[in-house]
Amino acid sequence: MTEAFPNGFIWGVATSAFQIEGAHDIDGRRLSIWDTYAEQPGFIADGSNAKVACDHYHRYAEDIGLMKSLGVGAYRFSIAWPRILPTGRGAVNTAGLDFYDRLVDALFAAGIAPWATLYHWDLPQALEDEGGWTNRSTVDAFVEFTDAVSERLGDRVTHWMTLNEPWCASVLGYAQGDHAPGKRSWPDALVASHHLLLSHGRAVPVIRQNAPRAKVGIALNVSECEPASPSEADQIAARQFDGELNRWFLDPIYLGRYPQDVIEYHEREGRLLDGMHFVKPNDLDEIKAPIDFLGVNHYSRAVVRSAKIPEAENEPRTIAVPDPAKRTDMGWEVYPEGLTHSLVRLHTDYRPGSLVVTENGVAYATGPGPDGSVQDTRRCDYVKSHLRACLAAIDAGVPLHGYFLWSLLDNFEWGFGLSKRFGIVWVDFETQERVIKASGHMYRRIIQNNKLPEERAA
Ligand code: FCB
Repeated sequence: MTEAFPNGFIWGVATSAFQIEGAHDIDGRRLSIWDTYAEQPGFIADGSNAKVACDHYHRYAEDIGLMKSLGVGAYRFSIAWPRILPTGRGAVNTAGLDFYDRLVDALFAAGIAPWATLYHWDLPQALEDEGGWTNRSTVDAFVEFTDAVSERLGDRVTHWMTLNEPWCASVLGYAQGDHAPGKRSWPDALVASHHLLLSHGRAVPVIRQNAPRAKVGIALNVSECEPASPSEADQIAARQFDGELNRWFLDPIYLGRYPQDVIEYHEREGRLLDGMHFVKPNDLDEIKAPIDFLGVNHYSRAVVRSAKIPEAENEPRTIAVPDPAKRTDMGWEVYPEGLTHSLVRLHTDYRPGSLVVTENGVAYATGPGPDGSVQDTRRCDYVKSHLRACLAAIDAGVPLHGYFLWSLLDNFEWGFGLSKRFGIVWVDFETQERVIKASGHMYRRIIQNNKLPEERAA
């Protein structure tokens, strides 16, 4: 297998607004559901919040400098809805838009292409007060937000992603309660998932109108789902989880329909109170709006068993990684083959035309050693093995055009707070000092050479 990437391969890093910006009450920003969630005692594992996070709102120029020194060609960031439309809809807060205007200009000056995600989970709290994603009118609000942002930035942002991981936003947020808004209702989660998909479909033509030359896509969390044993029951469970996680989103976007077996599964589980009542005529046509690329966020695989975990009735039937050596700080299994399999499967089943890994990376806590450098060898190995998995997919004929490492900076990892470090740049959250980790230096060399480093003989 070749170790070199195709010419023009896009090398990027990814972040999201809530996780890095801080400046929670600056320039007219109002609360998002994640601000509210983080205020609940016990909801954030380490008791931290994102009021300051990486203070990127004030340090974006320094952070772009870091990206430039890494040699990345593209930066995936998200736009905080509560900065632009602080109560979700209505009057545009120009000061909020100005920040992204400055950011995009500074990226251009550094020769870095801006890839913007519109929704990376920070729904304005005012909309949640009206039901959030369970309320169909949130779709209209998202279209307003999309219009305001793409009108202002559409002349410069080259790539747009409507949503980040609608499975997380709906299932983790509304069924499992592990993400904001922290609800525990499957029926609500499925309604929310449909409204998220509809928001995506309706945003696409708005972006095309405001940014005719830009490419439009969506970022989905796609994982390979494997049965925990060869038993028939586990195989069925794996297929069901694949349906819930992957096909429930991919089928509407690419095939214009929800998968029938997954509808039936949700019905049997009592998750659909009144069938698919929330799907109105034409919704699926709108959701199927042609897009230019599929963004794939990939970290691990799901190993699924038929029995539910008794103590957590809303939890998926996935099991923990048996081999501790393969567990990351998130408890996720290091399984690079899963990335190849997922990419090949997406290409085979949905033919997206262009695929981009919009997130891949790993949490390990490794910090500065006595000399101040951060020797995160395990992250280096993770990144190399996953890039090799990308090459295997390219060799198999997958039109994979880019890779975004999650994440540029250690940041606020949602319900885990500041304790899980995904960055290739270390952040000291007391002083805001940044240190490029060994993985960052390695990534720079990979980008420079457009190929993986030679492996030393063992
Ligand atoms: C993804 C999210 C991203 C980050 C990584 C670790 O699900 O999109 O914001 O939290 O996981």
